[in-house]
Amino acid sequence: MSPNPNHQKFTITGDDAPVIDIRDLTARYGGRTVLRQVSLQVRPLRILTIVGPSGCGKSTLLASINRLTDLIPDCHITGEIRVEGQPIFQRGYDVRSLRRRIGWIAQRPTPFPLSIWENLELPMRDHGLGDRRQRQQRIEQVLHRVGLWEEIRHRLHAAATELSGGQQQRLCIARAILLQPTILLLDEPCSHLDPLSAQRIELLIKELRQSMTIVLVTHHLAQARRLADDLAFFWWRDGAGELVEWGAAKELFTQPQHRLTDAYLSGDLG
Ligand SMILES: Nc1ncnc2c1ncn2[C@@H]1O[C@H](COP(=O)(O)OP(=O)(O)OP(=O)(O)O)[C@@H](O)[C@H]1O
Ligand SMILES: [Mg+2]
Repeated sequence: MSPNPNHQKFTITGDDAPVIDIRDLTARYGGRTVLRQVSLQVRPLRILTIVGPSGCGKSTLLASINRLTDLIPDCHITGEIRVEGQPIFQRGYDVRSLRRRIGWIAQRPTPFPLSIWENLELPMRDHGLGDRRQRQQRIEQVLHRVGLWEEIRHRLHAAATELSGGQQQRLCIARAILLQPTILLLDEPCSHLDPLSAQRIELLIKELRQSMTIVLVTHHLAQARRLADDLAFFWWRDGAGELVEWGAAKELFTQPQHRLTDAYLSGDLG
């Protein structure tokens, strides 16, 4: 695949400057605080894996990075997030451009109720990308990249919902990477998949890391161990999720600073 042109445009400081820089992020639904004062950085072309118990705000954190939280009634965010150097909550910030640079994959595959082909062509048409021939080339290219081309090349006009769960999730990843995002947010992407499909997605995530910065939420500690370059561990305090510690995954797994992290990562908690 050709080098991603979006990297060049938005890399404004040194090579190791954080791609996502979260400062004092607090999230509330109505009056209820669900995530408290999170500060965390995601470094370029690495996989940051987020682990923690159900309800501690992992999905809310992901949704705040591409401002999907704007779309949730009563969701209120304070603090700051910089993506590729730019503060995303600043007035006038171009949210459409942000979402184009960030691919997002949900826990359950979410293909549009259209054909496989339309699932991929529509987003490109929506962004005014290419003529029909160029779009066709790009679709073929991304389907190869997610390992689906050979499996589905003869039924591109079948309904996407006819694919298996694992194939649907790979189609959603293909759709997410179509516009060459620089960042990929994955919210438990394997939780509804059989072990073989999950393994394929893991291999794909590793391959995508070569050209994208990835934030992965997972409940599977074994998966975190296999994939994480960096790891962030969340836990509750006074009813809200808080970041207990984060850093290089190897260090957290072998020498965590906090007793809670040790207990959670060794499977004694949660
Ligand atoms: N749209 C919403 N409106 C009100 N409360 C919400 C909404 N979405 C999430 N919450 C609440 O916010 C808290 C954090 O939810 P979130 O989905 O971010 O947690 P999570 O860590 O992703 O959990 P899980 O591991 O189960 O996916 C939970 O208490 C949840 O009930
Ligand atoms: Mg979640």
